[in-house]
Amino acid sequence: MKEDLRPYWVKKYWHKFRHWYVERYLRPQFASLGAQHTFMKPWYCIVSGDNIHMGNAPTVVADPDNYVRIGVWGREQGQGMIVIGDAVMISPGTRISASDEIRIGNGCMFANSAYVTDSDWHGIYNRVERDPDPKPVHLKDNVWVGDHATVLKGVTIGENSVVAAGAVVTKDVPPNVVVAGNPAKVVKELDPEQGFYTRTEYYADAAEVERRFDLLDQMMLKKNGFWRWVKSVLLP
Ligand SMILES: CC(C)(COP(=O)(O)OP(=O)(O)OC[C@H]1O[C@@H](n2cnc3c(N)ncnc32)[C@H](O)[C@@H]1OP(=O)(O)O)[C@@H](O)C(=O)NCCC(=O)NCCS
Repeated sequence: MKEDLRPYWVKKYWHKFRHWYVERYLRPQFASLGAQHTFMKPWYCIVSGDNIHMGNAPTVVADPDNYVRIGVWGREQGQGMIVIGDAVMISPGTRISASDEIRIGNGCMFANSAYVTDSDWHGIYNRVERDPDPKPVHLKDNVWVGDHATVLKGVTIGENSVVAAGAVVTKDVPPNVVVAGNPAKVVKELDPEQGFYTRTEYYADAAEVERRFDLLDQMMLKKNGFWRWVKSVLLP
């Protein structure tokens, strides 16, 4: 990784600006959004529709070539919901699209371009009507959805389970397993006796985590001078 040449205060102001942007432009798109959020490049995160709730300490990473899209397109105005717990991780390109109901537990993780939906969106025979039969999707706590994996309507995924990269989940997944393939099948049993260290535990005191990261920045960036940084931007 390239060395971060920003002076500490530049990075600090950048974070403040990012935070301000989320509060000013993104928070109003949510029905509720918790505290201690980290949205990286929040201007590439699109939140649309009613009843979208996100808990405390989410980490959402969006990119210009990989927008994050969280949207409810209810059957009627005001219908449909997405409820997301605390301490989730959402990577670039993730799409969460609800017609009726998607619930995501605490500490869940979504790798690049993961897709979760509770609807087929079109009828199988009538291609101009919307799917008349959406089915709720529930991801329990600490579920990890891998790169380019898809979770389709009606699926419940049990606690701690992992959806391998590229999998397409069409049926319920029990807790504490890895599923892979298309359609996804259980390929591995996990041992809950070993204990999982979850994002929920890591972010239990999110303010303290933020403070630790800030101290680290102060330490790592304190030697960076302003003009050297300007030069690195103008003459990379
Ligand atoms: C889900 C995952 C973490 C599981 O890793 P693991 O526990 O080490 O699993 P294993 O390698 O023991 O695989 C178990 C079996 O599933 C198969 N398998 C694993 N991942 C698979 C995949 N994505 N698609 C199809 N089969 C897969 C393996 O071939 C193996 O089969 P076998 O028992 O017949 O040999 C890993 O497979 C994966 O998908 N990693 C990518 C995660 C990701 O998207 N990260 C992005 C950053 S968040």
